[in-house]
Parts: sequence; structure tokens; C-alpha cells
Amino acid sequence: PGLAVYDPGFVNTASCRSSVTFIDGDKGVLEYRGYPIEQLAEQSNFLEVAYLLVHGSLPSKDEYDQWVHNITYHTFVHENVKGFMEGFRYDAHPMGMLMASVGALSTFYPESRNISDADNRAIQIIRMIAKMPTLGAWSFRHAQGKPYVYPDNALSYTENFLSMLFKMSEPKYEADPRLVKALDTLFILHADHEQNASANAVRSVGSTQVDPYSAVAAGVGALYGPLHGGANEAVLRMLKRIGSKSEIPAFIEGVKNGNERLMGFGHRVYKNYDPRAKIIKKACDDVFEVTGVNPLLEIAQELEKIALEDEYFVKRKLYPNVDFYSGLIYEAFQFPPEMFTVLFAIGRTPGWLAQWLELTQDKEQKIARPKQIYTGSRGLTYTPTDQRW
Ligand code: CMC
Repeated sequence: PGLAVYDPGFVNTASCRSSVTFIDGDKGVLEYRGYPIEQLAEQSNFLEVAYLLVHGSLPSKDEYDQWVHNITYHTFVHENVKGFMEGFRYDAHPMGMLMASVGALSTFYPESRNISDADNRAIQIIRMIAKMPTLGAWSFRHAQGKPYVYPDNALSYTENFLSMLFKMSEPKYEADPRLVKALDTLFILHADHEQNASANAVRSVGSTQVDPYSAVAAGVGALYGPLHGGANEAVLRMLKRIGSKSEIPAFIEGVKNGNERLMGFGHRVYKNYDPRAKIIKKACDDVFEVTGVNPLLEIAQELEKIALEDEYFVKRKLYPNVDFYSGLIYEAFQFPPEMFTVLFAIGRTPGWLAQWLELTQDKEQKIARPKQIYTGSRGLTYTPTDQRW
């Protein structure tokens, strides 16, 4: 008591103990519950990874089937949620809609406030993983002025999401399996990242013992920002603004002069390379095989090459992060940039919930309440307005 360590941005402060995700930033290692991200991205699928994160171990066949069944049958949302979403302005940012509608779910499931009950926690986790694609897809349809598409429970998790986004007519939307696999892989890559800003927001709000919908809504809010999940949207806008390879040197000079940041570069923990960026590059090739190459790819590759050889970036250990290439893939899917962070949020939901669940089980965890170093005035005497104005 009385002693405060000044650590803005928690650069050197561990706020919790966690067994969910391991990162070795110097070696470029990322593991969920001990399994390397490369193996999960290659061999698993998003719902199995979600089970792994939430439950701590890989499922048996029965556990997996039950988990997928439960999630599939909770994809629908209450009709009034639809009405609520329809009330947004025509040009509402889908992340704003997602944040609000996830938060609104807490009012549809008031029992979710009983966080001390294990069965209750389990059902809310299933509901949230199930409903995020529905809310995300509807926020997209809303911006396009198109009718919302209901979930199709005959489809897989990721196919159903694509169907709710892109279905234009009956009887059903059929996605190219290579696109489904690529999007599923992107969800896996985004599923958790230990104490990132949004997980920290979920934990901080969750530490007040509020319901998980409210805690996850806080996570969505944190993810919305351009320095976190919003970076993929910012990368796309940046590449479009650069416009051609010949403009890259002038752009890089501007970054070095401190005019702006090279979006999609740099990371608080990865100081060698971001293992997710490597996997995404491969997914890029798979997607472009179906959709044709995104013309911005050339600019991105050249930008990466120049930056990786430039002393400014080398000295500061700035490498491409997960967001540098993900936006190019999303654009190939014909998502507008505002949707990119929604895709990130859907992928990150199991991670947020695993972090939240761990928090609720942690007896050492207290309400998150950092100290401050006070720099303001003290002991002033209030002067009434008739003497000041
Ligand atoms: N472009 C140019 N310079 C940079 C960049 C960048 N992208 N990132 C860091 N720097 C410089 C920064 O100016 C500072 O230089 P100096 O020492 O001369 O003052 C130095 O590198 C250290 O930067 P920092 O801001 O102290 O690093 P941080 O660990 O606080 O920030 C970061 C990490 C991700 C916020 C930052 O690298 C950044 O803003 N990157 C661009 C945004 C981005 O791509 N974000 C996505 C992150 S990965 C996915 C996610 O978490 O959502």
C-alpha cells in the first residue's frame, strides 16, 4: 500500500496467471493450451480450437460432436435483437453494431449474471460463440441495406457465416470449400493472444463479476481501435492510399519522419516475427487461387521487402504482424474494410471467453483497479461562480 510502480500500458506488469496461451515473442512462438499455432491452423478447425481454448484440452469425438451440436443450435438470436439492430443508422459501423448487440444479449439472458454457476457459465459461452457470426453477418447486411439472413443449421460454422453474409436467393448459398477453409484458418489464427488489449478489457470488466456478454462487449470495444483489431482495416486503407509501388519510398520516408505508422507492422510482444503472419501468407495464396490476385498484394509485398531492409524498422524490430496480410484476404472475399475487425472479433470470441472463464475460477483475482501517479493540483479552495464569472 502506498507504493506504486509506474507502468503505462502495462508493458512490464503481469495482471494475471494464465494457462490459455503461450507466446515467446523473441522466437516467434504461439501456442494455445500448449499446441503450436502452426499445427492447429493446418490440422484442426475453428470449433475444435474453440473447445481447446475454453476447456483446456482437445475434445474426444463425443465431446466434439456435442460441442458442435450445441453451438449449431444456438446460432439464432431473439427476434427483438434483430429489431434492435435494424434501428441503427444506415451507415453504422459494423463493429459499433456488434459491440452494442453483444452487450444487449445480457438483457436477453439475465441469468447470465449468475456467474458462480458452472452450468450457467457453460451455456452462455456456447451461446456467445454461436451467436457472434449471426450478429456480425447482420451488421454487414445492415450496412448494405439487404435483408438479414437467418442461420442455416445444416451448414458448418464458417459456411453458415458466409451464407448469412452473402446469400442472395433460395435455396442456399454454396461457398467454395477453399474459401471456407481459409476463413476457418483465419478464425483459428485470431482465436487468442494472451493478454492483448481486448483480453485485458474483458478481464478488467469481468473482474467486477458482471455477466460475460458485458465483458465481451468491452473486448469488442477494445478491438475496434486502430492500434488493435482495427489495424487490418487501416492496412487496406493505407495500401490503397499508396496506390502504386513507385509511391512506396515517399511513404516510407513519411513513416520514418514520424508522420504516420506503417500499419500492420510492429507488435508489443513479437520482436522477431509474428508466426500468424507466416500462416496468413499461405492462406493468401489459397484464396487468390479462387478469387484472383488482389492487385494490392504487389504493393504489400514490395512494402514489406523495403521495410524489412530499412534500418529504421530493423533497429526497432518491426516485422509484419497478423494484420498486414489478413485485410488483403478479406478484401478478396469482397468484405468492405469496416467488416475486417468483425471477422477478427468472431475469431477472438473463444479466447475472450477462455480468459473470462479462467478469471472467474481464479481465487487470487481481485477487481482490476490499477494505481495512478497523481499529477494534478491539491487542496484548492472553491470560488463560487458569482465571484469567478
Ligand atoms: N510504424 C512505424 N514505427 C513504428 C511502428 C509502425 N507500425 N510500430 C512501432 N513503431 C516505432 C515507434 O514509433 C517507436 O519508435 P521510437 O522508439 O523511435 O519512439 C518504436 O517503434 C516502439 O514503438 P511502440 O509504440 O513503443 O511499440 P508498442 O509495443 O507500444 O506498440 C503496436 C505496438 C502494435 C501498437 C505498434 O507497433 C503499432 O502501432 N503498429 C501499427 C498498428 C498495428 O499494426 N497494430 C496491429 C497489432 S497486431 C494485432 C493486434 O494486436 O490487434
